[in-house]
Amino acid sequence: MKYRFALLAVAASLFVPACAQVQVLLPTSGELQATLALAGDAKRGKEAFGECQTCHRRDASGRSSGGIPRLSGQHASVIIKQLMDIRSGARINPEMKDYVLEPELTLQHFADIAAYLSSLPIVGTLGRGPEDLVPRGRALYVRDCAGCHGEQGEGRAELFHPMLAAQHYSYLLRELLAIRDGTRGNSNAAMAHLLKNYSPDDQRAVSAYLAQLPPPSRP
Ligand code: HEC
Ligand code: HEC
Repeated sequence: MKYRFALLAVAASLFVPACAQVQVLLPTSGELQATLALAGDAKRGKEAFGECQTCHRRDASGRSSGGIPRLSGQHASVIIKQLMDIRSGARINPEMKDYVLEPELTLQHFADIAAYLSSLPIVGTLGRGPEDLVPRGRALYVRDCAGCHGEQGEGRAELFHPMLAAQHYSYLLRELLAIRDGTRGNSNAAMAHLLKNYSPDDQRAVSAYLAQLPPPSRP
């Protein structure tokens, strides 16, 4: 049911002007649909996340250097999609691939981990970018990105659009380059196209703006 809703929402979004010429990457793998359909248990998810803490930290706040994202507070649908994409190789992540291919991890574990992470408060030290570029970043974000990632950088769970507010500056910058150059693998074509026109200062500015946005309030 959830998946069908997502498809309808995607179809609907094609009529939203800001997302008009957009190729939305639809979930294609059966594993993704199956995992989205499972009820996640945050308590079990906490246990399953044990292996992941070495990189993502115990509070899932990630690291301000080294490209390790904050996962706390991220939409469960986004976490599940990214994990399934990393498993299938659609998203290129050699550092993590072995961890998500552990034979004892079932789809239920991934649903549990997503429930746990999305329920966590956003705490810890989050890397910031250059303050002087924030106003420029805000203007770029409002023009190019808010239509998909939301006015407060809150993302859109039903469309698998990640929350970007309060993410580490260095991770955001790294993803922008990977998305632009196609080395992330699962990047959205519309985003890559937009980012081709961004100067290095534009890339830093939009990342600095997002990193300093407060965590969006959740319903
Ligand atoms: C060896 C370090 C390492 C371990 C262990 C690790 N990760 Fe990661 N993870 C990363 C890195 C690095 C990235 C970002 C890669 C990139 O730039 O695309 C990432 C990205 C992610 C993302 C995508 C986040 C986003 O915003 O798109 C999720 C979800 C995730 N990890 C969950 C997990 C889970 C769950 C585990 C345990 C099963 C785990 N990770 C174990 C290093 C690690
Ligand atoms: C058409 C909708 C759309 C637009 C416009 C868009 N994005 Fe995205 N963005 C996405 C989707 C979808 C993903 C997740 C990609 C995937 O899973 O295939 C994403 C992922 C990201 C990520 C990676 C987040 C993470 O946690 O790993 C960053 C950073 C990002 N977008 C920044 C931007 C910026 C900056 C802009 C404006 C220049 C922008 N996006 C415009 C849809 C969009």
